[in-house]
Amino acid sequence: MVGLDKNIALVGLMGAGKTRVGREVAKIFDIPFIDADREIEFSAGCSVQEIFELYGEKAFRDGERKVIARLLQEAPVVIATGGGAFINEQTRKKIKETAISVWLRADIELLLERTKHTNHRPLLQNTDVRKVLSDLIEKRYPIYAKADVIVDCDTEITPRAMGYRVRDAIWEYLNA
Ligand code: S3P
Repeated sequence: MVGLDKNIALVGLMGAGKTRVGREVAKIFDIPFIDADREIEFSAGCSVQEIFELYGEKAFRDGERKVIARLLQEAPVVIATGGGAFINEQTRKKIKETAISVWLRADIELLLERTKHTNHRPLLQNTDVRKVLSDLIEKRYPIYAKADVIVDCDTEITPRAMGYRVRDAIWEYLNA
């Protein structure tokens, strides 16, 4: 495998598979994997859910921006970012400077299916999940589209195979 001097940052909505696919991408490139939300939880000493409840979304976004800026200094690593990270202008700028950004694009049915058994996502608690996700698709997809590389999610293949698709799309981007 040819060496990579940049990070790889996976972006996209909740349920797109950033963590699962990100782990595989890291194995394929033989570089470390970091889950940004887990790092934020580690720094804060509590869960994302608790940060939202105790301090509010704005505080979470501030922490997210700082933690991701720190993680991006450790190149080369694969970072799975939380769904809102790339939407924040400052975080997006940092990602664009220091990483190859990869949007895992997914349709609403896939996202609904993948998020229906999880209860750790504050934005999807006690709400009409289809409505929230479709609003987020409308708001965020034009911004995720600024990523360097776009890979469509495919439920028919394993996370490993998705990882190879990401690798191929990155090579294509680098050799364009
Ligand atoms: C969020 C996505 C979550 C987490 C937080 C907010 C969002 O991460 O960062 O609940 O704004 O889309 P995942 O995309 O990993 O679920």
